Amino acid sequence: LRLACVVGARPNFMKMAPLLRAFEAYPHVETVLIHTGQHYDRNLSDVFFEELGIKHPDVSLNVGSGSHGVQTAQILEKIEGVLQNAASENDPFDRLVVVGDVNSTMAAALAAVKLGIPVAHVEAGLRSFDRTMPEEINRIVTDSISDMLLVSEPSGIENLKREGKPDEQLHLVGNVMIDTLLHLLPKAKQGDVLTRYELSPGEYGLVTLHRPANVDDPKILEALLDVLIEVSQKLKLIFPIHPRTEKRITDFGLMEKLKSASNLVLAPPLGYLDFLALSSQAKVIVTDSGGLQEESTVLGVPCLTLRPNTERPCTTEGGTSTLIGNDAALLHRCLNDVVAGRYKEGKALDVWDGKAAERIASVIVERC
Ligand code: UD1
Repeated sequence: LRLACVVGARPNFMKMAPLLRAFEAYPHVETVLIHTGQHYDRNLSDVFFEELGIKHPDVSLNVGSGSHGVQTAQILEKIEGVLQNAASENDPFDRLVVVGDVNSTMAAALAAVKLGIPVAHVEAGLRSFDRTMPEEINRIVTDSISDMLLVSEPSGIENLKREGKPDEQLHLVGNVMIDTLLHLLPKAKQGDVLTRYELSPGEYGLVTLHRPANVDDPKILEALLDVLIEVSQKLKLIFPIHPRTEKRITDFGLMEKLKSASNLVLAPPLGYLDFLALSSQAKVIVTDSGGLQEESTVLGVPCLTLRPNTERPCTTEGGTSTLIGNDAALLHRCLNDVVAGRYKEGKALDVWDGKAAERIASVIVERC
């Protein structure tokens, strides 16, 4: 059984790592790892391969950055070539495996299905019902052309049923990203990142921001940063900055102000282990990331989610996440509440038990 496994951007790597490990239990399965190169900076890509123990990609497409159309088109064109070459060399792929909702996920799935290669989508069925998010379009397209839908939470099953997917294609398997978290948490906590940034466990907040809705409008971005600067006087904050956010902050002339806030620590994007050490020991997380909403729930850390909606409702319904949108006043109030000891408690789903990848490998291997 020959599987093309595709990754491209940072949030893909921690999802693919446990899958590649799980497939190793099946001697007749060969995985070919294709990296599109959507993320190419060392600290958004290579560091994750090293820390997560992912094999060197068998194929690198080096597509790099671009508008959505250009990036998607380049991935489509290059992956099609890889899949066609394999077939013409009499070594065709039996199935393509994609994870998550980034442009690489959707483009790879589209290239494969048009060549008659069936697609398994890991983290299928999530819906924010907000089509202004590029990831929502990626999720809808990928699910509609995949025939094996591996779902992380019950809402995903409901969404896919409503969209007319037959029961036999749906599998509630749990969350592969949480497999990685549980696997590496003990190691992460042994690191020295807290000491490096002069932070004490439980006495700081962790901030990440990168979505266009929060960082592309100067007024919105400035209002959010002003709240963070003010709150940092009461609670130290650490803010590892995504490259697109750093660019916006600089372009909008906000970097000076941010740098002058002495209790707000700016950091480059961090590797997986450093980041997990920070998230697991934070008092609060402020983020617009998809994955971090889930990770904070597993870690039992309150999460103020800078999104108007979520495709991961189990993190707000039973978990520790609260939706803030980009309402600076609400962020301010909720951060002050956390500082005063008032926050939401919650817990993760039972099926997020660290064994999602094993279940996925067994579904794929049995049904191929
Ligand atoms: C992508 C995903 C998003 C995910 C995020 C995590 C899509 C549509 N978006 O967003 O869902 O939450 O990754 O990080 O797929 N850049 C660099 N170095 C890199 C890569 C990008 O500096 O290695 C900069 C470039 O200026 C680039 C910009 O970041 O234009 C955006 O990169 P892109 O991959 O298009 O989207 P992300 O915002 O990273």
